[in-house]
Amino acid sequence: MKIIVGITGGIAAYKTPALVRLLVKAGHEVRCAATEHALQFVTRPTLETVSQHPLYCDLFEGNGTRTEHISLKDWADMIVVAPASANIIGKVASGIADDALSTLLLAMSGKRVVMCPAMNSEMWAHPAVQRNVATLLSWGIEMVGPADGHLACGTSGTGRMVEPEEIAEAVCGTLPLTGKRWLVTAGPTYERIDSVRFIGNYSSGKMGFALAEALAEAGAEVELVTGPTALKVQHQRIHRTDVESAREMYTAATGLFPTCHGAILSAAVADYRPSECADHKLKKQGDEGMTIQLVQNPDILATLGGMKKEGQRLVGFALETDNEVQNAERKLQRKNLDHIVLNSLRDKGAGFGVDTNKVTIIARDGSHTDSPLLSKKDIARLIVNTVTS
Ligand code: PMT
Repeated sequence: MKIIVGITGGIAAYKTPALVRLLVKAGHEVRCAATEHALQFVTRPTLETVSQHPLYCDLFEGNGTRTEHISLKDWADMIVVAPASANIIGKVASGIADDALSTLLLAMSGKRVVMCPAMNSEMWAHPAVQRNVATLLSWGIEMVGPADGHLACGTSGTGRMVEPEEIAEAVCGTLPLTGKRWLVTAGPTYERIDSVRFIGNYSSGKMGFALAEALAEAGAEVELVTGPTALKVQHQRIHRTDVESAREMYTAATGLFPTCHGAILSAAVADYRPSECADHKLKKQGDEGMTIQLVQNPDILATLGGMKKEGQRLVGFALETDNEVQNAERKLQRKNLDHIVLNSLRDKGAGFGVDTNKVTIIARDGSHTDSPLLSKKDIARLIVNTVTS
């Protein structure tokens, strides 16, 4: 992995060279980016020696193009800021970019960002810092620490930077799905009637994109096959394939599944499509009305159920309006699934379009996990934890 280690002004910065050394020893390529205040606590030659790269500290030095922060961001897989002061946490939460490190951090959206806070315990407890930390967490920025213990200011409490060994472990050691590949389907499908009309549905893709994010956050490489949606992919471990129709989704998903450890199919796939698609705009034909003949689409989930090899996990969704649990259990058996996620359209705030969901996750052994109404991001984390454990 290519890792940027960011360093801000705090006494714990004296431990950062040990972190850099551990990461380099573990086979990672490391570059350091420091604030000017950090260099009051750790020296440039030390950081350059342990990382074996020039230090990035000044927005206007470097390759001469004055966009070094962008080159560095493109180069890196992730950044870990250790120690992360209250100041840098506040700047990132407020979108402030007024030096090399804060500008780099603003450019890192879409990449993994880990903060290792270190400060006096009263500063850590301050509502402004807590609010800023909550903001960063809500954006998917990870917090490692702070730890409890003796602080440099002579007091004890929460605020110590986590030890370099623990940071190295959190950064690159043990994400639960590292090395795994998962397939996710998301969004609606559009089934063309003519050159300007289609049969579609109200799926926004939010649930499927949240699942892809949750899998990627857990370390997996994710193949996201999505129907038409305006959503954007946030994580660099998500590889996106855009499709329009059920048949295109079928081709993409069946092609990718054999190389995946598991699949979660959350797309709202049209069961039927017009038997013919006119290559021009159909004209109104008198007052008699119009009949469109429909033919069945392939069932992607059932096909993957038939292809499933030992060790592969397959998770489907069931969108039901009545006899919900019974219907979902039948789908789980018929399509050879390991889990099925039941979405009842009777639950307020759940289902199409909204940012929240409420589900029942049913396992093959018959056990049920009922969720409260949560954000789709939290539902996605719950599903990922349940189906991958
Ligand atoms: O996208 P959002 O706006 O966030 O909304 C999320 C959602 C409501 C679409 C999602 O949570 C959901 O419930 N998805 C499943 C919708 C659905 O089509 O359910 P179903 O019961 O008709 O299908 C059962 C399963 O078979 C699903 O996993 C579906 O992806 C799959 N299927 C269905 C038909 C088909 N031809 N091929 C399939 O793979």
